[in-house]
Amino acid sequence: MLSNRLKSIACLIKKEDKVMDIGCDHAILGIYLVKNNILENIVVSDINQKALNNAIKNIKKYKLQDKIDPILSNGINIIDENINTIIISGLGTNTIIKILSHPNLKQINKLIIQSNNDHYLLRKYLVLKEYYITHESIVYDRGHYYINIVFEKGKRKYSFKELKYGPFLINGNKKYFEFLLKKKRAVLENIPKYKIITIIKHKKEEIFLKRLAK
Ligand SMILES: C[S@@+](CC[C@H](N)C(=O)[O-])C[C@H]1O[C@@H](n2cnc3c(N)ncnc32)[C@H](O)[C@@H]1O
Repeated sequence: MLSNRLKSIACLIKKEDKVMDIGCDHAILGIYLVKNNILENIVVSDINQKALNNAIKNIKKYKLQDKIDPILSNGINIIDENINTIIISGLGTNTIIKILSHPNLKQINKLIIQSNNDHYLLRKYLVLKEYYITHESIVYDRGHYYINIVFEKGKRKYSFKELKYGPFLINGNKKYFEFLLKKKRAVLENIPKYKIITIIKHKKEEIFLKRLAK
């Protein structure tokens, strides 16, 4: 059974998207997309030969060799020219940015990203690269919250708060902001008392989060 986390990504795919799943690991998502006729075919890639071998084994198990193309690739350095959509999930923002800092990014119209951390930096980076945010959602799975962000080609300006908390999320999900508030309080508890400027910065964020969590 596909996890809630990966299912929430599958919901963001349109039949006409030409997709590559980067960092596919076991290719579970790619297999789900094809088996459920969400996509006719997909390219799945991984930097790690062992992970890719697992993907190949699973693709064979479901007899999907003619629909799923597994490739060894460090992100988008090797990419079919037809691909216009990429999925990256389960990686941190620094790695994601390294992957996207490649001239092949120009052929990508849509990015579906579920980063493990620093969504502010991710939004800021892709907005600078002239993508804008068309969708954001939060999914709760096995004790963790995950954020899906869809970026599409186009220019748009965002405030600092929109980049930090998400232009769509900022107006929604109270439970998520309660969760962030708890995390912020834990951070505050661990800052040494003499670091007054750091405390003030986090206190300000705490006040803002308290408003969003109400
Ligand atoms: C934690 S797994 C995530 C698997 C799957 N995407 C998910 O969300 O469940 C991360 C995978 O990304 C691969 N990976 C890490 N850096 C990569 C890169 N630069 N290009 C392609 N794959 C990468 C790893 O080898 C690993 O298989």
